[in-house]
Amino acid sequence: MHVIPTSKDLSRAPARPSVHTGGMSIIGEKSSEDRGRQELLECAERFVRDHMAGYDPSHDWHHVHRVRKMAIRIAKTLTPIPDLLVVELAALFHDLDDHKYRTSTSPTLSTLLQPFLTHPSLAPEQAGMILKIIPSVSYTAEIKLQKAIPTQWIWQATCGELHAVQDADRLDAVGSIGIMRCAAFSCKANRKLLEEGPESGSGLGLGSRSGAGIDGAGKEEGEMQKDPVKAKVDGKGQSAEGHFEEKLLLIKDRMKTDFGRAEAERRHQTMVDFLSSLERERAVLDAE
Ligand code: ADP
Ligand code: NI
Repeated sequence: MHVIPTSKDLSRAPARPSVHTGGMSIIGEKSSEDRGRQELLECAERFVRDHMAGYDPSHDWHHVHRVRKMAIRIAKTLTPIPDLLVVELAALFHDLDDHKYRTSTSPTLSTLLQPFLTHPSLAPEQAGMILKIIPSVSYTAEIKLQKAIPTQWIWQATCGELHAVQDADRLDAVGSIGIMRCAAFSCKANRKLLEEGPESGSGLGLGSRSGAGIDGAGKEEGEMQKDPVKAKVDGKGQSAEGHFEEKLLLIKDRMKTDFGRAEAERRHQTMVDFLSSLERERAVLDAE
């Protein structure tokens, strides 16, 4: 899964038009700068698709592609408009080094990205920005970084490129898609779907929801077992249902952009309705 791209990868024929350029129609009409950027984006897309081919549906290529589209959409609502190439590449690469999927043999992010970050269409400052943005994208990373060294969460407060990717990633964790991703990750991590109450000996797994706990993804490298995803969540949090209170219901208050906040409010309500419906189903089951 962890294949480091080579310069040969970067010269293979493009896979499909990029989101950033909107797939401009006739090659001859593009400047060489546009062509270079498009080639870079297409190679990046191909690399990420290949790299994530073995990931479960909660963190697969489709998640990355949605985050990429949404990040660009959000970026275009910001003033000033952030660097769209940085936004698109950071979105494409944002889950390559996810600690839940990392193993002791995984290459570092900068090693993985080296061929892209030294591409002639990317200035060194843009490459540096991408490398800085990625570790700050995730909700969990933000909480951990702010807690560990609060004074280091400085540039992140005003970086439009980061905000576009953060909000896009967070929107994909809530609402209908979020509910499905939570179930998908829980299967991968061998988590139960529902919180079990004391009476759950029925085997239906429909006990009462207690919530609480911290995010299930925080163990150190050394604690990894055969399945790193399972190892990272074992013993922390009880179920997919519990993850709503652990994290998903808190996300709307951590959005960075007006667009993201408005969309997160709508998606939050979808989750609240879903949880109410779950309670109703539980009540029907528990009624004598
Ligand atoms: P972040 O790093 O931004 O917090 P993650 O990659 O950890 O995001 O999570 C992405 C999605 O994966 C979550 O929104 C959720 O659907 C699922 N997920 C992550 N951790 C858990 C968990 N412990 N239990 C259930 N689902 C989880
Ligand atoms: Ni993500």
